[in-house]
Amino acid sequence: MSNVIYTAGISGIEGYLIEVESDFTPALPSFDIVGLPDAAVKESRERIRAAIKNSGLMIPHRKIVVNLAPAAVRKEGSHFDFPIAMSILCHDNGLNTYFIENAIFLGELSLDGTLREVDGVLPIVISAYEKGIKNVFLPEKNAKEAAIIEDINVYPVKNLLDCFLFMKNEKGLEVYRREQEQKGNSILPFAEDFADVKGQESVKRALEVAAAGAHNCVMVGAPGSGKTMIAKRLPSILPPLSLQESLEVTKIYSVAGLLSREDPLIRVRPFRQVHHTASTIGITGGGKTPKPGEISLSHRGVMFLDELPEFRRDSLETLRQPLEDGKITVTRVTGSATYPCSMMVVASMNPCPCGFYSSGTHRCSCTATQIKNYLKKISGPLLDRIDLHIEVPSVEYEDLADKKSDYNSSVMRERVQKARDIQLKRYQGLGFYTNSEIPSSMIDTFCVLGQEENTLMKNAYESLGLSARAHNRILKVARTIADLDNSERITAAHLAEAIGYRSLDKKYWN
Ligand SMILES: Nc1ncnc2c1ncn2[C@@H]1O[C@H](COP(=O)(O)OP(=O)(O)O)[C@@H](O)[C@H]1O
Ligand SMILES: [Mg+2]
Ligand SMILES: [Zn+2]
Repeated sequence: MSNVIYTAGISGIEGYLIEVESDFTPALPSFDIVGLPDAAVKESRERIRAAIKNSGLMIPHRKIVVNLAPAAVRKEGSHFDFPIAMSILCHDNGLNTYFIENAIFLGELSLDGTLREVDGVLPIVISAYEKGIKNVFLPEKNAKEAAIIEDINVYPVKNLLDCFLFMKNEKGLEVYRREQEQKGNSILPFAEDFADVKGQESVKRALEVAAAGAHNCVMVGAPGSGKTMIAKRLPSILPPLSLQESLEVTKIYSVAGLLSREDPLIRVRPFRQVHHTASTIGITGGGKTPKPGEISLSHRGVMFLDELPEFRRDSLETLRQPLEDGKITVTRVTGSATYPCSMMVVASMNPCPCGFYSSGTHRCSCTATQIKNYLKKISGPLLDRIDLHIEVPSVEYEDLADKKSDYNSSVMRERVQKARDIQLKRYQGLGFYTNSEIPSSMIDTFCVLGQEENTLMKNAYESLGLSARAHNRILKVARTIADLDNSERITAAHLAEAIGYRSLDKKYWN
């Protein structure tokens, strides 16, 4: 006879249902698992055997073969221990078939039978829910994360024996009681406000545009001009995550094993400051058991690359395609995993090694070759994917002496939110949310230019030596500027401002 227990695997950040089936034949006692990677099988077999024995339960005196189906898909993670053990315990024990058929099981076993917390719970529970499964049995510490999905009964399980006795109707298990929690859409108070940044109104305006359309930007300016300070204030003007976005981001952090057990739902847009010493895998994701990298941990938020030229060139180059696609696929010997990465890149850099090239306040002490080599660290193709090139001038003394600026985060956030609302409405049902994500096939639909604007664009294209990509990105930025102006039409003024944000590559790279 055989017994089927449900669990799930994870590919990228999506879960998929897996059947655990045990077969018992009256032959020399043995225990094999098929369908798992070799190394994992060995370890999990030992844990399962010990956990069953140390719970005072019996492993049937048979030849046992456990099959994880479908066989073709890769199975990773230690959460298969518990469902495999349950499948073995089904044998001859008269367990409650309602739960066996309508539940999903996941968790790692320790040798004494205690259930240990695992990663990736949210995508697993979502996949079960989508298949109509009504109950989930998992480690206590993972209960709150599973409970994010409201229409499924979550059973926190302390150890294997408790669950076994529950399935035999000999002991009760409490369903996890959800607290009334507010989900998504919460505006949190930000400690850092744009009001602290004195002067620099053109820079603030550019960041407002970037935030409104989720565009990539790079700030170029002398040391001490406030680039880092300004970037750190960006989260304070971004709109709150919608529940849908919250779930997307939470799934990524779940798979990465970075969720808080106490408050697992991520409600605030990620802001990831990546250090320039970060490894390429740390940035892109991957590794032996693949995990999302910084680029995906920034999904629906901001990835901040401070001092861009300090980064390894090959690390930066790997960002090119994902920036275009909004997703990244990491390949390994055993297969590949795809993670979403729709986010804003915000970068900062000095214009030259000494930092004062064209600063207006200090003399630059670098030679032309030094400057050239410095800027060469950032390739043209990467720069081409950054929509706004923002020049950050050194702060004027008079500005510094000023009181707090009334160009503050709250007024900026309000304008950003209005522009985002327009975009959400316009792109409803199209699978994207912001102007920066308009696919090239739809540029002609959403970024229409009149005759005057067309001439302006043509002149800029020729005089700035723009690429086709830069051309499209300018149109998307112009769309955002028009949206901030609550104008369905992109005017020459909107377009001129957008083109203005592209002039730095000409100035510094040629
Ligand atoms: N516009 C500004 N208004 C107020 N303080 C500023 C401004 N620009 C710079 N500062 C001050 O100078 C410090 C250094 O700025 P920082 O952001 O580190 O410059 P950068 O990253 O461009 O080198 C900030 O922490 C802040 O105290
Ligand atoms: Mg800095
Ligand atoms: Zn210099």
